[in-house]
Amino acid sequence: MGKLVVGATVVCTAAVVCGVAVLLMKRRMKNSGEWGKVEALLKDFEEKCATPVGKLKQVADAMTVEMQAGLASEGGSKLKMLISYVDNLPTGDEKGLFYALDLGGTNFRVMRVQLGGKEKRIVKHEVKEVSIPQNVMAGSSSEVLFDFIATALAEFVATEGDDFHLPPGRQRELGFTFSFPVKQLSIASGTLIKWTKGFSIEDVVGQDVVGELAKAMERAGLDVRVAALVNDTVGTLAGGRYNNPDVIAAVILGTGTNAAYVERAHAIPKWHGLLPKSGEMVINMEWGNFRSSHLPVTEYDQNLDIESLNPGEQIYEKIISGMYLGEILRRVLCRMAEEASLFGDYVPSKLKVPFVLRTPDMSAMHHDESADLKVVGNKLKDILEVPNSTLKMRKIVVELCDIITSRGARLSAAGIVGILKKLGRDTFKDGEKQRSVIAVDGALFEHYTKFRNCLKETMKELLGDAADSTIIELSNDGSGVGAALLAASHSQYTDLEES
Ligand code: GLC
Repeated sequence: MGKLVVGATVVCTAAVVCGVAVLLMKRRMKNSGEWGKVEALLKDFEEKCATPVGKLKQVADAMTVEMQAGLASEGGSKLKMLISYVDNLPTGDEKGLFYALDLGGTNFRVMRVQLGGKEKRIVKHEVKEVSIPQNVMAGSSSEVLFDFIATALAEFVATEGDDFHLPPGRQRELGFTFSFPVKQLSIASGTLIKWTKGFSIEDVVGQDVVGELAKAMERAGLDVRVAALVNDTVGTLAGGRYNNPDVIAAVILGTGTNAAYVERAHAIPKWHGLLPKSGEMVINMEWGNFRSSHLPVTEYDQNLDIESLNPGEQIYEKIISGMYLGEILRRVLCRMAEEASLFGDYVPSKLKVPFVLRTPDMSAMHHDESADLKVVGNKLKDILEVPNSTLKMRKIVVELCDIITSRGARLSAAGIVGILKKLGRDTFKDGEKQRSVIAVDGALFEHYTKFRNCLKETMKELLGDAADSTIIELSNDGSGVGAALLAASHSQYTDLEES
């Protein structure tokens, strides 16, 4: 009887072991088949995102051509090439207390700066950051948005301490950085052409944004004069020039992307007769809307675009900037999970939520140096609810981060080279030590180290010898200080200061 039981148990155990082994084998076979699919999808994506030097040179050339076309006539190019009305950049002589207000990304900032002229420069500087609720950014009204801004500004002004000095009887003045495409009517007024970067509030389009802000400030009981309305690229250029006279252009690589540069006034045909032939003018390119057949656009990008708030627009921005990189990654992972069982037999439901993977999380995964890619594992668990990712899965994620980020960084470098070409600064001129400094601001450039390094390396690849005289410089919060500086140079009291 005992023997019988033991015998039966042995047979039974053997059967179970055998069954499990078959199951495991079947699963392994299935997995290796699926894994082949994962790798095929990866390879295909990598090929479609490729940016060999030849292609980048074509992109740079196309950028130069489009710049020319946008300057030649209104609507002549996807690049708007907007006149900023900034024709004299900061000199260092600016003095006094000025405020700046910066709207354009997920956060908005208020700032006050005490400027001390050539000797003392920036005497004191305070900043407050406020995040913009989603329901204010999209679907609200002009009044809701501007009341939100004016209230935050009023609260900030109320905390002004004794180390800031406003001469008696004077009105406070402000530089307003509004980082969207604006048709400027003067240095301190302009109408919104369209929203970008996930903002969408219908009744602001076509309105003078300074007028809207002024009304809201009045409602908030705040007496502040808007002395300058600037794009963040223009603010960054002004802030950059204040610190370094060789700054000739500014680039934003943050939630969105854009560039501004200093153009010779006579090179702006659409403004002939309106601008003095001598002198310079800062141009806000709105390069985020750049488009060219040379751009490596994949089906993932196309779908992202179709489902976005602004389909068909800002294509360059949608493959480069911080708002979108994480979302591109999510889309590729989702397809790999659906069609090639990347995460096993199920598709994590979180993976289907648009914008759930943010670029800072992607950056953290991309920079994971641990042997078992622990950071990647934790992010997959916390954000996508994938509890037990294998090392193989994690490696795929890192490879995707690399493909997406390199494409964005390399295309940004090509854009900068396009500007240098337009200005005749892309080649090394013997004996002429012409330095070109590009001031760059934005969290993508500042915090995503691999993006930044790749951009800089690509500049070298594209420029050869001329790379030595081209400097890409981080201009941390250049746009806020720049707006305050431009408010100073357009102050209603400038003549009093000079006399
Ligand atoms: C978007 C805006 C542009 C801004 C850029 C960076 O492209 O349209 O005006 O400069 O984002 O913030």
